[in-house]
Amino acid sequence: MARLSKVFDKQELNHRPQSGTMGKLDDHLYMYHMPYSYTAEQIRKIRTHIFHMSEEHVPHIIMVTSSLPGEGKSLIASNLAISIAKGEDQHVLLVECDLRKPSLHKLFSYPPSQGLAEILQGRARIQDCLIKTPIEKLTILPAAKDAPANPSELLESKRTGMILTEMGQRYPDRFIIIDTPPIQATVDPKIIADHVEAIIMVARYRFTREDDFKRALEALPKNKIIGTVLNAFDELPAKKYKYRKYKYYKHYP
Ligand SMILES: Nc1ncnc2c1ncn2[C@@H]1O[C@H](COP(=O)(O)OP(=O)(O)O)[C@@H](O)[C@H]1O
Ligand SMILES: [Mg+2]
Repeated sequence: MARLSKVFDKQELNHRPQSGTMGKLDDHLYMYHMPYSYTAEQIRKIRTHIFHMSEEHVPHIIMVTSSLPGEGKSLIASNLAISIAKGEDQHVLLVECDLRKPSLHKLFSYPPSQGLAEILQGRARIQDCLIKTPIEKLTILPAAKDAPANPSELLESKRTGMILTEMGQRYPDRFIIIDTPPIQATVDPKIIADHVEAIIMVARYRFTREDDFKRALEALPKNKIIGTVLNAFDELPAKKYKYRKYKYYKHYP
């Protein structure tokens, strides 16, 4: 607990590197908790697709995006990052770009910590913001300690592109997985898209409307989109399973 109070120490915060995750990782990190589940298997398929899509070049800077909030970008980006980091020698930096609604601190269990927003404001350096995780080769760059008042302006400044380029140069062997804000809340989604090598779209089953999805596709460079993940597709079987379980419980002596 001593470490926790240190991290919260305001005076020291801007001068000390941030430490690692603290508590239990969220159950939705299937790749960590249930690596042999159906969902983890689907995540592994995305990973395999990334590694085998081209013989000449495996994309290393990949953004995960969707049209609206709540479609599962952060969850897919996090599970994909874990999946790649669990590979033999791939290091992964998971970068949280949703400055308005950060959520990685909940998934990976660390206190709100300085990150991309503070770097964009010139108040912190990348190396001081990195968060270690229990997955040995996975590091996180959080969005922000305090949600900035002007997330769109910050993200849409030229510095974002410069920082993404710097990260690519500083960690050339590392996969950089970027968890983005929803396209519809972004004035210029190309700011991030221009600096990545590949884009994964997320749509949520029975949630994402076709025209919202199409609008998001139109806002992005098509040649970089490598696939779409239909998230939460198994909601129905999961419900059925619960129902069966319930029946079984009722008939128990
Ligand atoms: N496949 C899924 N199964 C169960 N819950 C999910 C699934 N995908 C997303 N969620 C839940 O939906 C909410 C939004 O997901 P999140 O990844 O934060 O979306 P986004 O980053 O697109 O806003 C979270 O509470 C998350 O746990
Ligand atoms: Mg998110």
